[in-house]
Amino acid sequence: MDDGLVKCLGLEKRFGGIRAVEGVYLSLNEGVFSLLIGPNGSGKSTLINLIAGYYYPDEGKILMNGEDITHLKPHERFGIGIIRTFQTARIFPSLTVLDNLLIAAGMMVGEKIRYAPFRRRWIREELALTERALHIMELVGLDKLKDQPAGKLSGGQMKLLELGRVIMSGAKVILMDEPTAGLNPVIAESVLSHIRSSVYELRLATLLVEHRLDLAIKHADRVLAMFNGRLIADGSPEHVLSIPDVVESYLGEKLA
Ligand SMILES: Nc1ncnc2c1ncn2[C@@H]1O[C@H](COP(=O)(O)OP(=O)(O)O)[C@@H](O)[C@H]1O
Ligand SMILES: [Mg+2]
Repeated sequence: MDDGLVKCLGLEKRFGGIRAVEGVYLSLNEGVFSLLIGPNGSGKSTLINLIAGYYYPDEGKILMNGEDITHLKPHERFGIGIIRTFQTARIFPSLTVLDNLLIAAGMMVGEKIRYAPFRRRWIREELALTERALHIMELVGLDKLKDQPAGKLSGGQMKLLELGRVIMSGAKVILMDEPTAGLNPVIAESVLSHIRSSVYELRLATLLVEHRLDLAIKHADRVLAMFNGRLIADGSPEHVLSIPDVVESYLGEKLA
């Protein structure tokens, strides 16, 4: 197996008698946009939650940079840059887009300055953070809306703000479970293309679940297909979509 930033080694997760995830080996690499597909109930969300630390595996290990992180809690994984986004964006609606990003960096503007013995240093840090926030807003396509209250953003823009916040808080590995759910195809397309450009520019390792293959497939570098808790294919989009088992697992869902 290649040298991934994150590696899953033989993951298994059971719920009662159900093996939601079984024998999963995979690695996530910097700057690679990986798409996780599979019919309903195939184990995609469970796998994302295992990597993010919301569930612990019954078998197997998870490594980050070669270190065993299998038992780290979600906030500890957040601290080392493994961040999962949520279906409903976690934002502060009354604050501006810019302030939402600054808060994600763990810096309340103005707050710390009052107490800081080295005021100049704080101001310098604050300027650097603001510059970083502006750059991230450009990446996610929200730079023109920086002074808008976040509560006024559209559904698609909120997803982009959440992506920006995740990046701002130091993500190295981003896990997204159907981030475009409920968005119309045109907006979903724009969200996916901003995710893709951020992944490339910042060299993020990304694993994204998306049900609408037609939308997502053209953005993905790599596709992982699950069925009944197992990874049944892993490779380029063209390769994975040419595998009969992958196609059949989806056809089965449509007939059901
Ligand atoms: N918290 C849970 N308790 C019991 N069963 C669960 C739980 N989460 C998922 N499952 C079961 O595990 C299997 C995989 O579910 P899930 O990971 O949500 O699939 P997907 O995201 O691909 O639709 C399903 O059979 C589902 O019913
Ligand atoms: Mg799911």
